[in-house]
Amino acid sequence: MTQLQGCVALVTGGNRGVGRAIVDELLARGAAKVYAGARTPAEADVPGAEVVQLDITDPAEVAAAAEHCHDVNVLVNNAGYHANTRLVVTPDPDAARREMEVNYFGTLEMTRAFAPVLGRNGGGAIVNVLSVAAVVPAAFMGGYSTSKAATWFLSAITRAELAEQGTQVTSLVLGSVDTRMAAHVEGKKEDPRDIARAGLDAVEAGVQTFATDKMAVDSMAAHQADPEGFERLLGRLLHVTNLRAPG
Ligand SMILES: NC(=O)c1ccc[n+]([C@@H]2O[C@H](COP(=O)([O-])OP(=O)(O)OC[C@H]3O[C@@H](n4cnc5c(N)ncnc54)[C@H](OP(=O)(O)O)[C@@H]3O)[C@@H](O)[C@H]2O)c1
Repeated sequence: MTQLQGCVALVTGGNRGVGRAIVDELLARGAAKVYAGARTPAEADVPGAEVVQLDITDPAEVAAAAEHCHDVNVLVNNAGYHANTRLVVTPDPDAARREMEVNYFGTLEMTRAFAPVLGRNGGGAIVNVLSVAAVVPAAFMGGYSTSKAATWFLSAITRAELAEQGTQVTSLVLGSVDTRMAAHVEGKKEDPRDIARAGLDAVEAGVQTFATDKMAVDSMAAHQADPEGFERLLGRLLHVTNLRAPG
């Protein structure tokens, strides 16, 4: 279990979307300090937080953040990238590499850099913001799904490796959320503030993997009940989904 009141947290991609909602919710729960990672701090307006320069794919910026934010005991790996193209038959074959660089390697570098910081500060917690597409192969977002699946394994392996120093690792499995990343998505989308509240409740309860919303709960259950049938269903969605670059 992790008490968030009085914690010192760093949220990557804390300038907008789900990350910004998590920053606000941490502050509302009485966090002593929240660092909001941002690639362009000059454009980031995050009241109550200290904005820090942080592109998670830049090793020098990751190292500088780990040195500057030495008091952190809760790391929220939220920053993510969705190229919105197909994986195999695609006009943009480099997209999968870009998704892997941010969603997997960036999260891995942050985890490596902050593991000793968390260890020195009593163990603390890592929160990885994942997606249904991490646990269910979603063909209509193939490269993104693959990169989030890698990060899903990263969560479990981090949990095992850092158990000795008492670091809690919570994976948040999100459905569809109303942010810029999902601007092209039709249908019901959750309010990021609800995702932040549900997710941080799970962190405080010490949950390892938590589906934050109905779509995530239903999708995981459907996949568990009939993996091959559900994958065929998602494959069919490929042909009705509008795959275009997000604005
Ligand atoms: N929206 C959904 O439906 C949905 C569903 C499932 C999971 N998620 C996950 O939720 C998390 C937050 O996404 P969101 O929906 O809030 O999307 P968003 O509004 O597009 O925000 C993405 C955030 O990540 C930051 N970011 C991107 N690349 C980065 C990098 N290399 N280094 C540091 N920061 C970087 C962005 O910074 P800039 O402002 O500089 O671009 C922005 O702050 C992601 O991990 C995403 O995969 C979202």
